Amino acid sequence: MVSEDPTKKTLSELGVRDATELAFRFTGLRAQLQKELKHAKGPGGWDSLREAWVGSGDSVKSRITANWLRTAPDSLRAAVARDLENLINEVFVLSTVMRPLDQLRATQADQVAAQFLNVQHLFDTEIEECVDEIDLGVSRTFWLGRSSGVLTHITDSWLKTASPQLKRIVGAEFNKLKNYVETKIEARRAAIESGAEESALLRERVDLSLPGVIRPIGSHHLIRQVFQEIEDIFVSIGFSVVEGPEIETPYYNFEALNIPEFHPVRDDMDTFYLELPKGALTPLLLRTHTSPMQIRTMEKQKPPVRVIVPGKVYRRDNPDATHSFIFHQVEGLAVDTDITFCDFTGTIEYFVKQFFGSGVKTRFRPSYFPFTEPSVEFDVSCPFCAGTGTAASGGTCSKCKGAAWIELFGAGMVDPAVYGFVNYDAKKVSGFAFGIGIDRLAMLKYGIDDIQAFFQNDVRFLRQFP
Ligand code: FA5
Repeated sequence: MVSEDPTKKTLSELGVRDATELAFRFTGLRAQLQKELKHAKGPGGWDSLREAWVGSGDSVKSRITANWLRTAPDSLRAAVARDLENLINEVFVLSTVMRPLDQLRATQADQVAAQFLNVQHLFDTEIEECVDEIDLGVSRTFWLGRSSGVLTHITDSWLKTASPQLKRIVGAEFNKLKNYVETKIEARRAAIESGAEESALLRERVDLSLPGVIRPIGSHHLIRQVFQEIEDIFVSIGFSVVEGPEIETPYYNFEALNIPEFHPVRDDMDTFYLELPKGALTPLLLRTHTSPMQIRTMEKQKPPVRVIVPGKVYRRDNPDATHSFIFHQVEGLAVDTDITFCDFTGTIEYFVKQFFGSGVKTRFRPSYFPFTEPSVEFDVSCPFCAGTGTAASGGTCSKCKGAAWIELFGAGMVDPAVYGFVNYDAKKVSGFAFGIGIDRLAMLKYGIDDIQAFFQNDVRFLRQFP
């Protein structure tokens, strides 16, 4: 052994605290054993090697027993005992199979057979100790490994050096042992595997008496719920629901809606443009409203048209209690041969009463949108103070600020100029359009005072609208 002999120290002095560090120490000892085995020569050499490793005097075995096993913490003791036993076994096996037969005094057929039987017993002891696939893998390499497995050593030390009269019997015994080792390792592998399967089955057995896992069920976001309410109302009067792209071209978002470049309305819709590679055919933008779908729908279908378009829109507005840079709209469009302003106001009134309740009143005021003519803003009597402007407490209603009316959305009769962009005959058709800001509508109906609550995903807020 080299001077820094670890077996002279206790495990705690070596800093060995777990099974991995212990295995590392035994691997070091095995490497040392291999080195010494290579240099053992002559009967005396082999005997003193055995004495140094497994003898009853000051041997590796007795030092490990005294310094490692006796002082090992409870958690490591069994592992030390097993590894020591394996090491002792290896010393016996290797110092037998690496020694030529004549030095083992096996010069007759029956003595040769006895040596093979001895090795087989050593193998039996070791293989019984294998409890899992890792153990078995180590043993398989130790016995069957090509470069330095036990059977390779037997071939080199016993078979190749056997005298001509013993060669046949050594060969026959070798084949017997090889068969025995291979068969037994395979049987052990199958036993370990089925044992592992059984214990895995036991571990994974479903215990029906255990309480179940309760997974909370989510709900639709309030904006999604309001979309649904609006869709239901319009579908019930013959509208269908369509959706469109959030990335648009300036043509659909502006030009075809009668908003040419440099039109002042574009300033109200401060727009996010996409960064595109140089040479892109057209600029692209995030739609600032759902109105581009008026154009896309009319391009695709001939009148009559009755659609609503729910969706997300984007504007470079600074966030505050009533502004967000992402918000939601529902566009509405009805075009036919005989649609009048009365159809328009009747439809909108029907929707507002369905949505807020029949108690509310509606009114419209003149407004301006380049794609509707005439254009209006639709107001609803304040549902919080029943259109009085006075709160129940007697003070000014905080929602309508005493005005008794709340502005709801913009709308109007489709401007004939728009029909020109979609090849509709402006002399034959007429229609109306509206664009409702859903976030503010939801705030109004459900008494929410900050639009940002819709985007913060605070479950305490979301749970109030199951
Ligand atoms: C439009 O977007 C028109 N396209 C509506 C329209 C459609 C008119 C069809 C005529 C015919 P306006 O820019 O006013 O219009 O926006 C409509 C609604 O979006 C507003 O009433 C408001 O409720 C909402 N809105 C606008 N900007 C924001 C914002 N930054 N955050 C939240 N909601 C907003």
